[in-house]
Amino acid sequence: MPEILSIVDNRTGKKYEIPIENGTIRATDLKQIKIRDDDFGMLSYDPALMNTAAVKSRITYIDGDKGILEYRGYPIEQLAVNSTSYLEVAYLLIAGELPNRQQLDTWRSDIQRHTFVHENIKKLTEGFRYDAHPMGTFISTIAALTTFYPEAKDIFNAEVRLRQIHRLIGKATTIAAFTYCHSLGRPFVYPAGELTYAGNFLNMMFKIGESRYDVHPVFEHALTVLFILHADHEQNCSTNVMRSIGSSHVNPYSAVAGGAAALWGPLHGGANEAVIHMLEEIGSVTNVPSIIKDVKDGKRKLMGFGHRVYKNYDPRAKVIKNLADRVFAVTGRNRKLDIALELERIALEDDYFIKRKLYPNVDFYSGLIYEAMGFNTNFFPVLFAIPRIAGWLAHWQEHILDPEQKITRPRQIYLGHRARAWLPIDKR
Ligand code: CMC
Repeated sequence: MPEILSIVDNRTGKKYEIPIENGTIRATDLKQIKIRDDDFGMLSYDPALMNTAAVKSRITYIDGDKGILEYRGYPIEQLAVNSTSYLEVAYLLIAGELPNRQQLDTWRSDIQRHTFVHENIKKLTEGFRYDAHPMGTFISTIAALTTFYPEAKDIFNAEVRLRQIHRLIGKATTIAAFTYCHSLGRPFVYPAGELTYAGNFLNMMFKIGESRYDVHPVFEHALTVLFILHADHEQNCSTNVMRSIGSSHVNPYSAVAGGAAALWGPLHGGANEAVIHMLEEIGSVTNVPSIIKDVKDGKRKLMGFGHRVYKNYDPRAKVIKNLADRVFAVTGRNRKLDIALELERIALEDDYFIKRKLYPNVDFYSGLIYEAMGFNTNFFPVLFAIPRIAGWLAHWQEHILDPEQKITRPRQIYLGHRARAWLPIDKR
């Protein structure tokens, strides 16, 4: 028996039978509901796309009520504990399966080969002010890659597509590290092929000149896990942007730059930076109750709390909290961690937060770890963007290869003026 939704239009008395597939009706099936033949037909209105599935995807599964996150069917907790490299998870997201040893070796060496950037990228980076927000530099430089690889526009050529994927994942850390070195006036450090993805990134960030820099294994592990946790999150704001831009069939560099721009906002990937500013502003554990009061009075939001999808604990936050303990065992505790723990304790007992199902999200503790590892606060969104590139690319590829997809073009409810007579300037 096919599943059918019957709709009666009380304006006309007409009945419509709408097929249900995967628990969903097709919005375009509503178009047949009309009063007059020349009507456009019924639309569904969904600001912020709160209840609209715009894609069919096989990449990431989230059950927000149960606090479940899976990449290609693998629970995030398993990947965070068992995967020894971020690149393994990036492969899983993009190719759909965990790589065998040979596939992983090839993938790693293909990406490593593309960690180097054209020397002009250095000049481009140097063109930015030393105090430019690193996310502005990162987004612009990713967009600029399109000028180096014009072949990238050939998006339906699988080989060309894969090469741009290697380049984007490979160059992201180099671009980010160059941005950081430029902000401090340090010499740029070139990629080191023998290191892991996270280890090489730390090396490019913190090695100074010719002096030896030993990547701390706890930091390398922490960054690998943080990269894994941030690698994808189904149809969030930036992924939706990535898919939308990609739907025009533009090259992937432009689409990734757009996704990264969307990520930067404080309601999305910029929240980790905002959490640290908030903790700095609170200043001391004794001030926590008055902040909670301000939040409950609607005067401010608690950054790093709440999520559109998770109405239970964010599973990434659970992993991160354990990770924080390991990093702080090396770096020593800091005052902000105590404030964060107290904020969490009070919030989780408070009716305001319980009623609204507000829990710490991925950004609540990630910023504290980044800060303890020596990253500047304004660099945090870049640390989110680097690993998310694999997720964006997986979605981009799925989107452009989906025969059901077309250029994204939502409708509107037009409430403005119509057909007005133009007025000369002295009559307005
Ligand atoms: N602090 C205090 N109250 C909050 C918060 C918060 N962080 N988040 C939501 N609320 C309240 C909100 O005021 C509303 O209350 P009421 O029903 O009385 O009007 C209720 O909870 C529902 O909130 P909403 O705004 O409808 O929720 P949303 O799904 O539109 O927003 C969110 C989700 C993540 C944008 C929001 O929770 C928020 O702004 N959080 C702070 C920023 C943040 O940490 N963002 C990182 C998200 S995780 C990383 C990522 O994936 O991007």
